[in-house]
Amino acid sequence: SLLPILLLVGSYLMGSIPFGYIVVRLLKGVDIRTLGSGNIGMTNVWRICGKGPGLAVFLLDVLKGAIPPLLASQWHLSSLYQVLAGLFAIIGHNYCVWLGFRGGKGIATSAGALIGIAPKVILPEFAVFFAVLLAFRYVSLASISIAIALPIWTALFYPHDSPRLFFSLAAGLLALYRHKPNMQRLRAGTEPRVPLRIPKRS
Ligand code: G3P
Repeated sequence: SLLPILLLVGSYLMGSIPFGYIVVRLLKGVDIRTLGSGNIGMTNVWRICGKGPGLAVFLLDVLKGAIPPLLASQWHLSSLYQVLAGLFAIIGHNYCVWLGFRGGKGIATSAGALIGIAPKVILPEFAVFFAVLLAFRYVSLASISIAIALPIWTALFYPHDSPRLFFSLAAGLLALYRHKPNMQRLRAGTEPRVPLRIPKRS
């Protein structure tokens, strides 16, 4: 049937909605890709527009990762299709058709996909993220850490589960690859840290 094709194309297109780009365009009338790190994700939206818009973009990006795998199970497709739907949404976010096949780093969208694919790893992933963020104050280092931890948690919580492990390895590697500029800045000592106290914006 056409359903699997429809699902994967739909997942890619849903992932491609560049919420960060849209929100900053609406609020400030500028192209977020020209500001801060140039990324279209929550971290850079927060940097440029503050906490509210940052969190809103996070929730929207989580949602577009969550819907495709949930739809796949709703449509009674196999777990492999759930996994592919999640990966296609992440690929849509990272290689957005509306932004010349450029885009974000896929952390929020991957977190969303985990809701349907591997919910047991969400809490441990959050724990690693905030532990690294509090200790080192680099969002990117926290993201890199959970990208590495993802297949490990998945193997622990879902032993002998190849579709889930495949998802975690693929999503983790994609996230690492998309953080290459951050790794260069971390090594060069030029990656911005998040402030100890979040400054009030006037
Ligand atoms: O999720 C993206 C984050 O890890 C890094 O964002 O804007 O600092 O490159 P940014």
